[in-house]
This record gives sequence, C-alpha cells and structure tokens, in this order.
Amino acid sequence: MFKKIEVKKYVKQYFPSFVVNFLQKSKKKYWAELSHNDLDKLAYIYSCDKWGTHYYTPHYQKHFQQFKNEKVNLLEIGVGGYNDPSLGGASLKMWKQYFKKGKIYGLDIFDKSGIEEKRIKTFKASQTDLNLLNIFTKLKNGGIY
Ligand SMILES: C[S@@+](CC[C@H](N)C(=O)[O-])C[C@H]1O[C@@H](n2cnc3c(N)ncnc32)[C@H](O)[C@@H]1O
Repeated sequence: MFKKIEVKKYVKQYFPSFVVNFLQKSKKKYWAELSHNDLDKLAYIYSCDKWGTHYYTPHYQKHFQQFKNEKVNLLEIGVGGYNDPSLGGASLKMWKQYFKKGKIYGLDIFDKSGIEEKRIKTFKASQTDLNLLNIFTKLKNGGIY
C-alpha cells in the first residue's frame, strides 16, 4: 500500500504543475463540500485565521447556524491580502461555503476585485469613513450587526 505522503511526492514529481494544481483544487473543493456544516473545518480548509490562530468559529457557528440555509447577505470588513488584488478572501470563501444561498460581501481599503467569484463581491472603502458607516443606520431590523 502507498502511504499518503508517497502518493503526494509521486504526483508532484511526475505530473505537470497544472495537473497537480487541478488535483489540489479538486481535493479542497471535495473536502469543503463534505464539511459545509462545520465552520471550524471550513476555516482550516480555506486557511482562514478564524480557527487555529483565533478560535472564533465555534462562536460564529453557535450564533449563525440558525441562518445557514437562508439567503443571508453577509459583509466582512477587511478582506485580507492587503494591496494585492488577488490575495486574501479566505473568510469570504469560508462564508460562501457555509451559507450556500448567501451573498458574501467584503470591504477593504484596497482593491480586492481579483478574488471576486459567483456570490462573492468586494467594495473598496475604509471602515473609518463616516458616510459609509451611516449605511448601518439604514439597514432593516432583524439583522445581526
Ligand atoms: C487581517 S486582514 C483580514 C483578514 C480577513 N478578515 C480574513 O479572515 O480572511 C486585514 C485587512 O483589513 C484591511 N483594512 C485595513 N484597514 C482597513 C480599513 N480602515 N477599512 C477597511 N479595510 C481595512 C487590510 O487591507 C487587510 O486586507
């Protein structure tokens, strides 16, 4: 029997990098699909610091699981990856996988358009902008802010 580590080494050694990338992405997708009820695992899969560095996900899960199957609109302030438009968004991907019907928004002082995908949209703005913060006064009741 091959050990897992040997298979990985073999694939990396003998297959072109686009095949290795495809296999890695497929594995991640499959694993994320299986773990869609578990925010701790999703945070780990997407390398998000909400589990491991910080331990926020059990608390999020406790409060958010009642909305899991709803068409939530979720805004995360601070996308990650700083001034690289295609870096960051680990948490946004985690939320997208958790809230299967949700729309996920990210706000950052840097352009983050490179990480956008279906159901993930980003805005460039600062959380210290008072005009922006005013939107919270206009939101409907019933949300969690
Ligand atoms: C630690 S990262 C966020 C990681 C992300 N929440 C995650 O879990 O994947 C911090 C991000 O906040 C952004 N940021 C810093 N100051 C900000 C501000 N005033 N308004 C909006 N975003 C800001 C930075 O550009 C950076 O991308």
